[in-house]
Amino acid sequence: MRVCSVVGARPQFVKAFPVSRRLRADHEEVLIHTGQHYDEELSGVFFEELDIPEPEYNLGVGSGDHAPQTAEMMRLIDEVLDAESPDVVLVYGDTNSTLAAALVAAKREPMLAHVEAGLRSGKWSMPEEVNRVLTDHCSDLLLTPGENAAETLREDNARGEVVVTGDVMYDAVLAVRDRVLDESTPLPISGLRPDEYVLATVHRASNTDDPDRLAGILDGLTGVDIPVVLPLHPRTENALREHGLYDRAAEEIRLVDPVGYVEFLQLLSNASKVATDSGGVQKEAFYLDTPCVTLRDETEWIETVEAGWNALVGGNPDRISRALFDRSELPPKPELYGGGDAADLTVSAIEAKLADAADD
Ligand code: UD1
Ligand code: UDP
Repeated sequence: MRVCSVVGARPQFVKAFPVSRRLRADHEEVLIHTGQHYDEELSGVFFEELDIPEPEYNLGVGSGDHAPQTAEMMRLIDEVLDAESPDVVLVYGDTNSTLAAALVAAKREPMLAHVEAGLRSGKWSMPEEVNRVLTDHCSDLLLTPGENAAETLREDNARGEVVVTGDVMYDAVLAVRDRVLDESTPLPISGLRPDEYVLATVHRASNTDDPDRLAGILDGLTGVDIPVVLPLHPRTENALREHGLYDRAAEEIRLVDPVGYVEFLQLLSNASKVATDSGGVQKEAFYLDTPCVTLRDETEWIETVEAGWNALVGGNPDRISRALFDRSELPPKPELYGGGDAADLTVSAIEAKLADAADD
């Protein structure tokens, strides 16, 4: 079978890494990078360190407002599908790259498969929520990280077939775990001692675009008595400068450039806690036994909260600091998002669905 996989943003390179490796063992994959993320530290570094094959196409779409960015991706993806005639289009997660590919594929021949289907925040004002819901309804095959997401799709009357595969990001963590846990490798940022710092990431539009909300998050992060390290997403760096918050943040927080995947997981695994608004990082924290404080009012990964490993604190400074200070013992960890064989199950589900379609 011939699969066109579409990626574009940092978390999608991580998600595609285990699936692409598994796909290419038996099938033909054409990797399409939309160019939504293009800085070396948001894109190139992942391809190099995870040995992801060079994309067959880099569409170079770059940054922009939602409509022109998505429209340009659609136009170019359509041309690639004309040239490649795949059996399957495979998309990941909930970015504008995901939606663009889904909308193009839905009106063409190939089967559309969505990895990380069925996730919901319940917040329609979040661009990713729009992308998820629409992509799910376009898809022929919906691959979910767990039973809750599968149930959501059934309640939503999604037309595609639902298969629970587990989380491909767990496969990714397991693939690099030895490198991450290797104690002979020093921490990638000098002056940090294991368990004596907080790692933070912030990039959601809902946190960066409102100056008061962003200032409140900074107050919350600086309310702790150990160093806070924040690898800065370019959206956040731009917002801090625009809102006149950069100098204050730099005084109290270790602001660093985004780091590579293995280095990031090493920082995460050794942190006393992580404060984040990232989707992927909430799960990775769980997989690496680091308690998470989520700087959002809702989460798609509610199972981590129910398991007692993730505190949902929003943007309130006191709640953020209190959660970061809290050293209560954590409950035993349940298995939440599969057993680390999600890439295998993803490829098997695609093979089976394609075989069924051929029989019809
Ligand atoms: C996007 C996704 C978000 C995902 C995140 C992962 C959408 C709507 N959002 O958000 O779901 O969690 O990626 O990190 O698809 N920029 C650079 N260099 C780059 C890329 C971006 O400087 O290589 C700057 C640009 O100023 C750009 C801004 O970051 O306007 C935002 O980038 P964009 O891709 O639009 O959204 P993200 O916030 O990265
Ligand atoms: N990540 C990384 N370096 C960083 C910050 C994050 O490698 O400096 C990785 C992280 O381990 C996870 C992914 O990027 O695999 C998450 O991406 P992001 O938070 O940008 O997006 P989201 O998951 O929220 O969509």
